[in-house]
Amino acid sequence: MLDILTYPDPRLSQVCAPVEEVTPELRALADAMFETMYKAPGVGLAAPQVGHFIRMLVMDDGVQHGESRNPRVLLNPVLELEGDDVRSEKEGCLSVPLDFRADVIRKSRVHLTARDLDWKPVDEYLDGFAAIIVQHEADHLDGVLFIDRISRLRRSLYDSKVKKWLRRKKHSA
Ligand code: NI
Repeated sequence: MLDILTYPDPRLSQVCAPVEEVTPELRALADAMFETMYKAPGVGLAAPQVGHFIRMLVMDDGVQHGESRNPRVLLNPVLELEGDDVRSEKEGCLSVPLDFRADVIRKSRVHLTARDLDWKPVDEYLDGFAAIIVQHEADHLDGVLFIDRISRLRRSLYDSKVKKWLRRKKHSA
């Protein structure tokens, strides 16, 4: 299991660097990220969440309903947002504490280009749940969290909850 950085850790706001090549270390990191994601449990995890500031993410849109697993590793993903605005329901994030969830406006369809772990080009369209996950995870690579996409009011309410929680944690430590 890898340690997951959590908000308000400023490292989560970094823009990540492109992956230059696939190394054995990178493959090992992808394996560890899957293990961490499945155990959490989550449906996606981006490298910066585990302290590696590179443009890599793992995701699996098959986990949700106990369907067969559909693991993907994406290196240097680029998204062209298409389709209609859709409301992702109760989006959450392993890096956003207190199990905070909120609806976020996303696009229903994305054109995805990337590299896979064999450095083969990926070029496909994702819809539905997979489209939501990839938008959320690709945001992490640009230092964006889903709480950056909610209303200012909800965000400030959440921020004050986090502050209180951190203060309590500090006192009980
Ligand atoms: Ni996330």
